[in-house]
Amino acid sequence: MQVAIDGPASAGKSTVAKITAKKLSFVYIDTGAMYRACTVIARDNKIDYGDEDAILKAIDKTGIEFKAVNGEQKVYAGNKDISLEIRTPEISANVSQVSALAGVRKKMVSLQRKMAGQTNVIMDGRDIGTTVLPNAEVKIFLVASAHSRAQRRLLDLKQRGIHSDKTVDEIEKDIANRDYKDSHRKISPLKKASDAIKIDTTNMTIDQVVDTILKKIKEKAKKL
Ligand code: DC
Repeated sequence: MQVAIDGPASAGKSTVAKITAKKLSFVYIDTGAMYRACTVIARDNKIDYGDEDAILKAIDKTGIEFKAVNGEQKVYAGNKDISLEIRTPEISANVSQVSALAGVRKKMVSLQRKMAGQTNVIMDGRDIGTTVLPNAEVKIFLVASAHSRAQRRLLDLKQRGIHSDKTVDEIEKDIANRDYKDSHRKISPLKKASDAIKIDTTNMTIDQVVDTILKKIKEKAKKL
């Protein structure tokens, strides 16, 4: 079974996708981490974030890899662990530009489809239900107010030990800016698939969101 979870930045997609995947023994794939890894590679090679050809060459040369280490998903650029690096504010600020490049998207989507393969998978991102896995049996679109997403982002950075001088209001502005770019780009913008179930998580706990998604998956599984 394929489960697609899409939605704007910091709506809780990866947190709930990870827990739900673990409960069901499904493979979890974080596609945002892939675009973030491309951005780290561009930055480390001092390539302009709009230089598609150079970025594509650098991605091929370096190689992006996902490995499970002690049950945790780690991201590697070549043999360098960039799992923390991809979450820094600098990368968050530039990932929308890199992820809007047609060649980068084509490469990542093909990799994502390959990774989804024939296994049971929960994949989160922006275009999973619309483009990457249009035949996914369950499609979820998670939303939450911009303010609560900013609070969650700040907490997430703290928990990961990533320093940020920004206030909640500043982070809220950054998130709104990224949502605007992600929703208005030409190729597969952030959009709810017509057959996706929308869940507003603003006033829900993580457990409540997970339970709601599990229920949808189980309902669907009964019909298959
Ligand atoms: O989910 P995230 O915040 O880690 O995603 C980082 C960026 O990557 C996001 O701003 C837009 C882009 N992205 C995308 O274009 N398509 C996806 N499937 C996932 C992420």
